[in-house]
Amino acid sequence: MMSFKKFYITTPLYYVNASPHIGHSYTNIAADTLARYMRGCLGRDNVWFLTGTDEHGQKIQKAAAEAGLAPQEFADMTVRQFRELWERLNISYNDFIRTSEPRHISIVQKALEILYNKGDIYQGKYEGWYCTPCETFWVESQITGQSCPDCNRPLEKISEKNYFFKLSAYQQWLIRYIQDNPLFIGPKFRRNEVLSFLKLNRLNDLCISRPKERLSWGIPLPFSPDYVTYVWFDALLNYISAVGHFDKDNRYVSKWWPADLHLIGKDILRQHAVYWPIMLKALEIEPPRTVFAHGWWMTGEDKMSKSRGNVISPLEMVDRFGIDVYRYFLLRDVPFGLDGNFSEEAIIKRFNADLANDLGNLVYRTLTMIEKYYAGEIPQRCKASDVEGKSIEAAIERLSGVCAKFLDAAADFNFGASLEAIWKVVNMANKYVEEKKPWNLAKQNKSDELKAFIRLLVEVIRKVAEGISASMPLTAEAIKEQLGSERIKKGKPLFPRIDSR
Ligand code: ME8
Ligand code: MG
Repeated sequence: MMSFKKFYITTPLYYVNASPHIGHSYTNIAADTLARYMRGCLGRDNVWFLTGTDEHGQKIQKAAAEAGLAPQEFADMTVRQFRELWERLNISYNDFIRTSEPRHISIVQKALEILYNKGDIYQGKYEGWYCTPCETFWVESQITGQSCPDCNRPLEKISEKNYFFKLSAYQQWLIRYIQDNPLFIGPKFRRNEVLSFLKLNRLNDLCISRPKERLSWGIPLPFSPDYVTYVWFDALLNYISAVGHFDKDNRYVSKWWPADLHLIGKDILRQHAVYWPIMLKALEIEPPRTVFAHGWWMTGEDKMSKSRGNVISPLEMVDRFGIDVYRYFLLRDVPFGLDGNFSEEAIIKRFNADLANDLGNLVYRTLTMIEKYYAGEIPQRCKASDVEGKSIEAAIERLSGVCAKFLDAAADFNFGASLEAIWKVVNMANKYVEEKKPWNLAKQNKSDELKAFIRLLVEVIRKVAEGISASMPLTAEAIKEQLGSERIKKGKPLFPRIDSR
């Protein structure tokens, strides 16, 4: 297991050309869960959770023009939707960075200057094919025909003077680095993909400038004012611009760096696992400890994406099912790292089975028994004397350790498995109720046994609330409210069943 003194976690900076969708919310919910979990382990002051928006580049310039707005105005408008969504989804970020902020721009320019003076950025001629929607350059050998290998849309031929960053000079270093640091890229199969890509291909130097006449919405190169910075080179630097600065000897100083985890989708792994560590190496800054790429939410055969126009609004889902149900579904339904299919039916199924039937029912029936047998006062703790009770006791003792094991880079941050472990205990408890038949205990006046039995259910529920407090913070709170003190406060059922339409 990895050990931490502090934990700095980031999400991608989302493009502000369109509204956020389920895919964006997925990364932020996963990051939020880890941040909350780590705050529990390390204390609030030792966790820093960064998210934000990527605001420069062709895509945004184009979207702004179509809306009849200046790029900055346009960005100011859409950034609100991201902030509002994070608010709604209970995302506990510590900082929200926008790449159009001065604190970011100055660091990008400083980094460019350092690399230029060092000779890692040079001027050259650029010839190739460009995909505007993907903001990606392709060289002749990478394409067949004139369409983008990623998105299949038409490419534009480009030939111009530009500035390049010497990626190629660091290729062997990167291969070694990845080999020596097994947890640098996750999941493991993605690490192998990156390694074999690096072993089989020669890296081209990265074109990091755009002539202003073609694209004006970007950060000007400090050494060549007719150019702006390529949006990816700009955006990646947010991870350091948000948490530190360069001192007078050009050394980067930060309380939080290196990042402990960059959480991203698999679509942007190359930028994070190849460009980014090389940029940092060239700047003499330590690489992040882990870059983890999760899979895609699909609708049918297709990736859900703004450019494909098949997106589902997270707000709609949350209004319909509730915040924690949505969070639970995303984290539980698909192993982190793999693709998943999003559908309302799938949410409803999880809802009725895991939430209404299992957890909701356990809490509700326990509250009802405490009401009925003890007038709402929670009985004192006492040890279970029967075999089933003892094995439940042992299971809740182990639970924190089991969850910790899964929520580790070495285990690919397996949220699903950690929730599954929690639900195993929930199901043990429900089974215990059915087998023990408390109404019989009451009838037979077995009051010690009844007390121990009910008290154990309370322990299970409290432990479960603790276990889900990072993934389902509102539910954990609601449970604590109902069963947290000496007297119960019975409210409405946590998850009333949904009938599918
Ligand atoms: O790439 N399933 O921004 P972006 C799962 N600005 N996750 C998804 C998803 C899906 N269908 N669609 C999007 C950019 N995501 C750059 C990043 S970082 C310095 C710059 C999530 O708005 C996932 O995290 O296209 C993915 O990597 C990210 O949104 C891409 O967001
Ligand atoms: Mg994208």
